Amino acid sequence: MDNDNSYHYQVITFGPALTLLLAQGCVPVWLPPADEVLLAAGLRHDPHSTLEGLGEGRALVLDRCANCHAPPTPTVIHDERWPDLLPRMVERAELTAEETERLLAYLEAGADVPPPAD
Ligand code: HEC
Repeated sequence: MDNDNSYHYQVITFGPALTLLLAQGCVPVWLPPADEVLLAAGLRHDPHSTLEGLGEGRALVLDRCANCHAPPTPTVIHDERWPDLLPRMVERAELTAEETERLLAYLEAGADVPPPAD
């Protein structure tokens, strides 16, 4: 894992940059694809992770969390506001308990995957 890379990811995704994304809405957000790197990260959190489940979580982020703002970047789960945001966003997106689990599994795994180097 490239530490320099993940540090850079944190710096650009937290704080003002995320607010800017929210305001502009159309800035592309990189969401880790459902591949073997994501699966390896998912398995470290939950040994029952599957590529299919993680892919469904990714689809939920794109289909249900990006209606009102840009899709959230997975590292948002490390944001101190996350515990407060999560229940409100789940309600807004009208996710079932099962969908919420899939969404969280994807965000958790995706937060560990560094973005590609430009
Ligand atoms: C019905 C519209 C709507 C949906 C659907 C929605 N959100 Fe939001 N979201 C908002 C609004 C409005 C704000 C800003 C105000 C606030 O914090 O409530 C926001 C703010 C956020 C923020 C904080 C962004 C920042 O840096 O200030 C995150 C993260 C977030 N949403 C994640 C999600 C996730 C994850 C989902 C899917 C489960 C989701 N949202 C679905 C309306 C929505």
